[in-house]
Amino acid sequence: MSILVTGGLGYIGSHTVVELINNNFDVIIVDDLSNSEKFILDNIEEITGKRPIFYPFDLRRKELLTQVFDAHNIEGCINFAASKAVGESMTEPLKYYENNLFSLINVLQEFKERNISNFIFSSSCTVYGQADEMPIDENTPLKEAESSYGKTKQMGEDILKDFSRAYQKKVSLLRYFNPIGAHPTALLGELPAGIPNNLVPYVTQTAAGIREKLSIWGDDYPTEDGTAVRDYIYVVDLAKAHVAALKKLLNSENETVLDIYNLGTGKGSSVLEVVKAFELANNVPVPYQICPRREGDITVAYANADKAEKELGWKSETSLEESLKTTWEWQKYLNDRNN
Ligand code: NAD
Ligand code: WQD
Repeated sequence: MSILVTGGLGYIGSHTVVELINNNFDVIIVDDLSNSEKFILDNIEEITGKRPIFYPFDLRRKELLTQVFDAHNIEGCINFAASKAVGESMTEPLKYYENNLFSLINVLQEFKERNISNFIFSSSCTVYGQADEMPIDENTPLKEAESSYGKTKQMGEDILKDFSRAYQKKVSLLRYFNPIGAHPTALLGELPAGIPNNLVPYVTQTAAGIREKLSIWGDDYPTEDGTAVRDYIYVVDLAKAHVAALKKLLNSENETVLDIYNLGTGKGSSVLEVVKAFELANNVPVPYQICPRREGDITVAYANADKAEKELGWKSETSLEESLKTTWEWQKYLNDRNN
């Protein structure tokens, strides 16, 4: 049974490919390397002993995608491929609508034409905006997204709801909170392009001396220590949730399924808590300065992930400190590679 993994050389995709292979799935990756590197394929092979089939092209090239579906017996897809830089999506919205939605629709058309079901979509906690109550469960109302990137996730979810209903398909929408960490082998991890926007890559690069100081965006939020709170989920735990969600779809006897799951730890951590946990876990200092709030940031977001536990038998297992240790090992691996 072959599973198509779009964006399978990216951060979350590569970790998920490893878990799929560990669970005896045959994996076919399509990734245009727009935000990933080819050596990740070698590293997946080093970890698992298997080299997934890899096609390097842009999913918007429908004719190439059709050839992949002609060549393989594809029974499901996990769709990671998307552009994900929130700030860039505000200055280049068309890039985001085009890449994130056309790529998705091209795969869905193949599914429709070939009668394939079992589709998993990378959604995001960003679809909730600043929710009125914590923790956020799957029934929490969605608010207008803060960014064009976030809107592509809301639109992607809407497209998939219609797709599932109209064509009787099995679909799972996975709303990730804040993924962090790297593979325990230090052979896979996040590859931030340029100056990182996300907290943990910035903290890591500051500890490594690549950045001088972390800017903490605001210490006047109505939280315990004044810094904003998020739910940081370890990437390998997150990857395992995809396998559980896929197995549930494959095993379901219903023709039409629309699953929605929050994937988080259920625990909120503040920016300062992350910095302290990183310092403690790795015994390295992270110099920081307090700066004004970042535009568009919300105060607090953490998940109620009970539904995933109940229905998928999945829950987050790795502590913040453990996750931050793996990030540091990955940074050291990257330093060695670059020297
Ligand atoms: P990533 O950028 O590391 O991975 C995405 C991969 O898709 C990259 O390897 C990129 O080269 C590829 N890609 C992009 N457009 C493509 C196209 N048109 N054709 C073929 N390949 C293409 O990102 P990630 O952090 O692994 O995120 C994976 C998914 O999860 C994305 O959809 C993202 O929006 C979503 N998500 C990420 C986060 C996060 O914080 N990392 C949180 C919530 C949701
Ligand atoms: C976390 C906290 C920052 C960097 C983004 C996307 C969201 C989702 C996850 C994909 C915030 C603070 C950060 C820094 C800081 N991605 N921070 N200094 O904002 O929760 O969400 O990633 O779907 O859509 O918007 O994550 O890692 O950017 O920030 O103080 O240099 O760290 O202000 O409070 P965020 P983040």
